Formats: sequence, structure tokens, C-alpha cells
Amino acid sequence: MKVRKAVIPAAGFGTRFLPATKSMPKEMLTIVDRPAIHYNVEELIEAGIEDILIIIGRNKEEIANYFDRSPELELLLKEGGKEELYELTERISNMANIHYVRQKDAKGLGHAVLCAKTFVGDEPFALLLGDDLVHATVPCIKQLTDMYDKYESTIIGVQTVEKNQVNKYGIVDGVKVEDHLYEVKGLVEKPSVEEAPSNVAIMGRYVLTPDIFEMIEKTAPGKGGEIQLTDALMLLNEEKGIYAFEFEGKRYDTGDKLGYLIATVEYALRNEELSTDFRDYLKTII
Ligand code: G1P
Repeated sequence: MKVRKAVIPAAGFGTRFLPATKSMPKEMLTIVDRPAIHYNVEELIEAGIEDILIIIGRNKEEIANYFDRSPELELLLKEGGKEELYELTERISNMANIHYVRQKDAKGLGHAVLCAKTFVGDEPFALLLGDDLVHATVPCIKQLTDMYDKYESTIIGVQTVEKNQVNKYGIVDGVKVEDHLYEVKGLVEKPSVEEAPSNVAIMGRYVLTPDIFEMIEKTAPGKGGEIQLTDALMLLNEEKGIYAFEFEGKRYDTGDKLGYLIATVEYALRNEELSTDFRDYLKTII
């Protein structure tokens, strides 16, 4: 079965980005001229997925407002002859079929994903973590859905990280079965450098089979007292094998201050309108 649905968990507090995230969803932090979550929705659309569930928490209404119509603004732009801006604004509200559900308690990523159970039903689905942006020739999620079409099994998107960074990620213990593809033997959520079975890290992109929900329901709180998706994936792996796919592309952690700045600079340098002037400016200060 083709992957037609996607889930974006966006209920986290964004504590790594305080105080900005005190009153503003971290997913709405702007990279150049659009919020981070816009890029994620675009990635899904480019991968042919238009039914998207965003899992929100309290104080996340801004996300729903962003993807909604803005009749007054649209009218103002139209009447003011700002056709291009009008089209841009209007297009955002028609980008995809976006649905919302609230995670009432912050009990971890696994718990957030469980909120998508009714929406997903009995289908495979893409899961995309809002903090992670991936710039790639073939959209990252498309790379994973292509792998899913071949293996019809849960696929986790991974990339290698520096050894000293393993404690920030879910880490894969795997055996390479083909170029860029590992059969998963084990998974550990944010291990210490000593405990880490490898430096192959989960990078916020997954294609999951719907049996993940049963596994999440069986998962006890793990690292940080939270229900970890990585632990549920371990249970799933014990029942039926799952794979980790090393996708092509540059991944940015926009939930982190330095990662966010790097993303801002690199996306600006790729922006047609800004790149020349911005590059010239950077040269003058470095
Ligand atoms: C989550 C996952 C982790 C993964 C990471 C990728 O952690 O639990 O396995 O490696 O996203 O960004 P978080 O960064 O939300 O704590």
C-alpha cells in the first residue's frame, strides 16, 4: 500500500529555544521568510503526501492560523495590486489537507505519535519531526517511501554523526544489507558515548507501519520518564524486522540555537532573491 498520510508532532515546548518559545511555537520560528513547519509540509507535498496530521499542544494555535485562509490580508493584497504576494498567501491555505489533534499531556514522542492512531487507521504513514529540516535533491520522505515500497516494512531515516554527538539521538545497531540500508538489530535512545552501539543516528524521518501504535501502547516510560518512540520501535523490531535507511541530504536541527542559525544562513544563501547580496555581506564580516 502506498504511503498517503503523514504525521508531524508539534506539541513540544521548545525549551532549547527559550525565551522565544515562551509564547511562540518553535515550529513557527522563521527560516528566511517562512516558518520551519512550512518547509516540512512542502517536503511532504513534494513526496506526494497531502493528508497531514499536525499534533499540537496548548499555545500552538499559530500553526493552524498559518495554514488557514487570511481573508482580510488576501483582500488587502489583491486590492493593492500585490498579485504575487496575494497568490503566495492564498497558496499556503491550499497547500495540503491539514488536520490537527491535541496532545493533552506532554508524555513524550511515543505518546504524541499515539494521538495519530485514529487519523492513520490501518495504513503505513510518514512521520516527520518538526525540528528537523532536510535539504535534498529528492525529498527525504520520498527517499524513505521509495524504500517502503520495496520492503513494505518500517523504515527509519538515519545519518551518521560524530561519536561525541550520539547522546542527542536515537542510535541504531544495524547490519548493512545493501548500499545505505541497515537491518536493525537494536535501538537505543540517547545513549552515552560508551554505550552507543554505533554512530548511526535517527534523524526525525520515519515511514511507520500502523502496528507501531500497539507497540507504543505496550511501551513503558523510558529515557527522561517519557514514552519513547525509539523503545516502541525496538518492540516492533522484535516482532517483525525494521530497516534504517541512510538518506541523502543535509539535515538541520532547527530546535537548537546553533542549528537554527546554520539553517538560516544556508537557506538564505540558496534563496535566489537574497543569495548574492547576503554572500557579499557575509564576506565583509568574516
Ligand atoms: C527525537 C527522537 C530521537 C531522534 C531525534 C532526531 O528526539 O526521540 O530518537 O534521534 O528526535 O531529531 P528529540 O530530539 O525530540 O529529543
